[in-house]
Amino acid sequence: MEQVRIAVIGTGWMARQHMEKIADFEHACVGAVSDINQEVVDQLAKQYECPGYTDHKQLLADGVADAVLIATPHFFHTSIGIDALEAKHHVLVEKPISAHKSDCEKLIAAHSDKDLVFGAMFNQRTDTMYKKLRQVLQSGDAGEITRMQWTITDWFRSDTYYNTGDWRATWAGEGGGALLNQCPHQLDMLIWLCGMPKKVHAFCRFGQYHDIEVEDDVTAYIEFENGASGVFITTTGESPGSNRLEINTTRGKLVAENEKLSFDRTEVPVPEFARTSPERMDHPPAWHCELPTSGPGGQHREIMENFVDAIRGKAELIAPAAEGIWSVELANAMLYSAWTGQTVELPLDGAAYAALLEEKISGSRYKRD
Ligand SMILES: NC(=O)c1ccc[n+]([C@@H]2O[C@H](COP(=O)([O-])OP(=O)(O)OC[C@H]3O[C@@H](n4cnc5c(N)ncnc54)[C@H](O)[C@@H]3O)[C@@H](O)[C@H]2O)c1
Repeated sequence: MEQVRIAVIGTGWMARQHMEKIADFEHACVGAVSDINQEVVDQLAKQYECPGYTDHKQLLADGVADAVLIATPHFFHTSIGIDALEAKHHVLVEKPISAHKSDCEKLIAAHSDKDLVFGAMFNQRTDTMYKKLRQVLQSGDAGEITRMQWTITDWFRSDTYYNTGDWRATWAGEGGGALLNQCPHQLDMLIWLCGMPKKVHAFCRFGQYHDIEVEDDVTAYIEFENGASGVFITTTGESPGSNRLEINTTRGKLVAENEKLSFDRTEVPVPEFARTSPERMDHPPAWHCELPTSGPGGQHREIMENFVDAIRGKAELIAPAAEGIWSVELANAMLYSAWTGQTVELPLDGAAYAALLEEKISGSRYKRD
């Protein structure tokens, strides 16, 4: 396919930025737009000289696009994604791919035609620092992970942000707060780098810093299959905050922060040194290395170009949508733990989580049409 016609469904803040980028792609164009807001549809259809729709099903039926990019509020990712896949369109869905695990499963199951490309907008997977970190971990040079800790507290959001959409920061509209909106990126990355945890115990504070019903402050303890432990801390209420990922391994310590990646690598494995050292308190000697990285990568543009290239048979997807269930499951597990006060074993019982979320939705300040 020489030119991929991408229909953008849900044309709000994020989609506008995506459309500006698509407009100067060599092998793609904005083929159509769809939003429930007629005024917005008219304006964007004119700007991009393409058909506009307030009904995405009509857009799909008219065959005006080869692919869709879904950037609506979260719950519609599932229903619109299923409609688009059933109508034989390639799909790129914004994060999170769905608001909860059961919806993820339904959406992923709709991808039965494997000729269709189904990707997710995990743009942070293009960051060269995290790519290098993954390479080091997968190479075995760092040994086995013993602990990871991610403090990601620079997601500061003002009340104005939360007021830009009545769906925002509500159970019924968004399905969660910092874990479902801001942190899908880091939760995806955590699993991409370290694997899926086996256990989660989380403490969430709801409306701690803002007048919202969902979580804006989270501290989670996690455990992995190999016994490694982890801590994940996030909030949208602190400034300046931090974004520091530290991974301790049997060969030292890796730190990813401020677009820099360092590796303090011990000369011998730490457990071996602990067993054999004649000294009482000496540490194993270690080299401090700054690993070469080259910035944040192409981010959203790179994910969209990669999606287009995958449709044209020229690339593998950086972020297949099927992997989007990881971050949703972990976010859901953290909320489930916070609500019940229990340690949650993974895989999460998706139906049990959906039932609890439904209770929150029924009391949500956002009322669905
Ligand atoms: N990848 C990233 O870095 C990033 C950053 C911000 C937002 N996002 C994601 O993008 C998505 C949209 O977020 P946003 O900030 O642009 O929200 P937004 O509120 O600005 O835009 C949402 C748009 O969807 C439209 N809409 C609502 N229901 C619809 C429906 N049923 N059919 C068609 N259109 C519908 C609304 O009218 C609105 O124009 C969310 O999934 C969000 O998490 C991703």
